[in-house]
Amino acid sequence: LKNISFHSMDWNFLNQGTNKGIHTIHPYPAKFIPQIPRQLLELFYTGDSSVVLDPFCGSGTTLVEAINMGIDAYGIDLNPIACLLSRVKTTPLPYGLSSIASKIVDTAKELLQNEPIEVPYIPNLDHWFEPNIQKALTVITDQINSVSELSLKEALQIALSSIIVRVSNQESDTRYAAVNKEISVENVFNLFIKATTFIDKEISLFFNNISQTPGHATIINKDILTVTEKDLPKNIGLVITSPPYPNAYEYWLYHKYRMYWLGMDPIAVRQKEIGARPNYFKTNPQDEHDFEKQMKTCFYLLSKVMKPSAKACFLVGRSIIHKKKIDNVLLLQRAAKPSGFVIEDIVERTIPKNRKAFAHGHINKEHILIFTLKEKP
Ligand SMILES: C[S@@+](CC[C@H](N)C(=O)[O-])C[C@H]1O[C@@H](n2cnc3c(N)ncnc32)[C@H](O)[C@@H]1O
Repeated sequence: LKNISFHSMDWNFLNQGTNKGIHTIHPYPAKFIPQIPRQLLELFYTGDSSVVLDPFCGSGTTLVEAINMGIDAYGIDLNPIACLLSRVKTTPLPYGLSSIASKIVDTAKELLQNEPIEVPYIPNLDHWFEPNIQKALTVITDQINSVSELSLKEALQIALSSIIVRVSNQESDTRYAAVNKEISVENVFNLFIKATTFIDKEISLFFNNISQTPGHATIINKDILTVTEKDLPKNIGLVITSPPYPNAYEYWLYHKYRMYWLGMDPIAVRQKEIGARPNYFKTNPQDEHDFEKQMKTCFYLLSKVMKPSAKACFLVGRSIIHKKKIDNVLLLQRAAKPSGFVIEDIVERTIPKNRKAFAHGHINKEHILIFTLKEKP
């Protein structure tokens, strides 16, 4: 692959089955088509046991593809659901997930019948969850929290998280209207068991099919603007990422009730989320210059931890702030320059129709930018 030019390659991957296997265990908005990081790794990973970094790792697509190729990877994300999901997707599971899930359900049924259930305080809970569903979710989460083996516990949390919207009154993952879906407590238990069986199967398939020793993934749950070079190794040979865009998608909102049920704080995430829409409201006006500053800080960090001449691949779309179209390609170029990065290559790709729900304002093109670190500041 290394001899073929970046431009002559297909980056659209239309009709190719782009969402398969381990990448499907839990929804995540605006995630990478796995073929994108895969092809970038094949093209630009230099070997020499250097590490790959995704500073906005989301659901961990880059990390999964890297460890699949035997490469160690680091991921950073502000969102605790992103980090939990990334850890679950990159950690082999010990035997026993399905039997623990069955035991959890048996105990939960017993508790529901025989004990008073105290539902945790969650804002607006009655609007989004029927009272019997609230109780079922409470007993399941209590049981999950008492599991001592961490990778099993986290896989169970991801299973529960993956069914939260299904069992709520929320119309769908991307429609925030409350509707009556007539979900029963039995449905909750069945969906939970089904999700754990699926996760168990996909994780073992993924690890069993890796032909070499899998790489190791390290995941850092932090605001990128507070990460320092001390948090990361110094031998980063390749960065592959898709950053949040200004005023485009709200990850905290998408995962709000998942976070509440898992004891996480979505409001704290909202305050730090780059690109979240509340930051662009008139009462708290931010614009593309704020975004540029945030990206500048991010590139400065990258320049400190990347090896000389290493590449940073950014997948970016356009966005609209206060009705103005923002050219994120130019913006990132300006943000990267002071830290010694130059754009070496750009390709334009078409966002497939099924991902347009996540594209803002009918934007159906995005770019892959390849930066090279020419000199450290
Ligand atoms: C486009 S998504 C990345 C999706 C990822 N490529 C995948 O395949 O799942 C951008 C990510 O940036 C994260 N993010 C937003 N603000 C952040 C911040 N201040 N620090 C770290 N991550 C942040 C969001 O939580 C989101 O997961």
